[in-house]
Amino acid sequence: MAKPRKIRCAVIGLGMGRHHAQNYASCPESELYALCDVDQKRLKPFAEQMGVKKTYTNVEDLAADKKVDAVSVALPNFLHAPISIMMLEAGKHVMCEKPMAMTVEEAQAMEKAARKSGRKFMMHFNTRFSPASFFIKSLVQKGLLGEVYHARTIWHRRQGIPGAGSWFTLKEKSGGGPLIDLGVHRIDLALWLMGHPKPVAVSGATFAKFGPKLAGTAGKSFTVEDFASGYVRFENGATLSLETSWASFCERREDMSTMIFGDKGGAEHCNLGEGYDMGVKLIQNVDGQQKVEVFKTMPPPNENAQSHFVHCIQKNRAPMASAKHGVFVQKILNGLYESAETGREVRM
Ligand SMILES: NC(=O)c1ccc[n+]([C@@H]2O[C@H](COP(=O)([O-])OP(=O)(O)OC[C@H]3O[C@@H](n4cnc5c(N)ncnc54)[C@H](O)[C@@H]3O)[C@@H](O)[C@H]2O)c1
Repeated sequence: MAKPRKIRCAVIGLGMGRHHAQNYASCPESELYALCDVDQKRLKPFAEQMGVKKTYTNVEDLAADKKVDAVSVALPNFLHAPISIMMLEAGKHVMCEKPMAMTVEEAQAMEKAARKSGRKFMMHFNTRFSPASFFIKSLVQKGLLGEVYHARTIWHRRQGIPGAGSWFTLKEKSGGGPLIDLGVHRIDLALWLMGHPKPVAVSGATFAKFGPKLAGTAGKSFTVEDFASGYVRFENGATLSLETSWASFCERREDMSTMIFGDKGGAEHCNLGEGYDMGVKLIQNVDGQQKVEVFKTMPPPNENAQSHFVHCIQKNRAPMASAKHGVFVQKILNGLYESAETGREVRM
């Protein structure tokens, strides 16, 4: 049988998008075919570095290029929904960066556009694509934790406010601060490990203790939170608590953890040092004694997010981070912001 042709991929937005591009270029089943960015200073040198001939400075021209099979949308958050929908309507398969959108309505419109187009849509929930994430998922799947009834997830940064006055710190462009930027990854991971129970109620609080002062001294605006906390109730009775910050008096530079509590055991997905070196702890009771195992090296996954997306297109499979998963996370994010604003629990 003839080998299927390579999937021709394009990337829009060349900040985080460079990572997507590198993964498409190194996947044997895809070709990094085109790049798009309004900023020529980013576009030209990166296209040269990657040996990509097709470059675009506007998304309409890219959408009209019939040779493009699939695109990664790695743009500022307020552009995720309109440009993902434009690409789906132009017949492209779409991988969208996190967060899915700014509002639940936008996320649902994206889910609808994906369904209508018959194309693949995948969320770039790349936290799932790591040795530690696949390993902790396998512990849950093997039943080592028993019935999972609660998760606690955090991502704190001691000092990590992204460019004050950039789109990241403006609510109308980002949708929010660390909750939508970092919390989104941890919420997705917790939902995935818990088997995606349906969220029914959320309660949240947000704070901005450092960002406004920092931005103010530079004459810039800061209209998002720099710390958020929240609590989520699910239809099956399970619960999730979370905390996230871009700046806080936490001990470590990065503090990441997702702890899953089951009736037979507990497991934690966490960074083992100050950075992104993720490990897993398994806490069990063996013959009446507490047993804690720490796993530092785990088998690497067979695919990264981009090669998984490409294989799903080629083999007509459903991507493991679906539009529906994106909508669940969006409901939690926007519900938490609404709750923080109103001071009340938000029911869905
Ligand atoms: N998954 C992750 O681990 C991860 C990490 C970082 C960022 N992100 C996400 O990636 C997205 C982009 O973040 P970033 O850090 O790369 O931001 P960035 O500002 O560094 O890059 C965005 C790029 O988009 C370009 N751009 C803006 N408007 C455009 C348009 N209309 N058409 C074409 N290009 C346009 C800009 O010129 C810029 O180069 C965000 O949604 C962010 O949340 C994800």
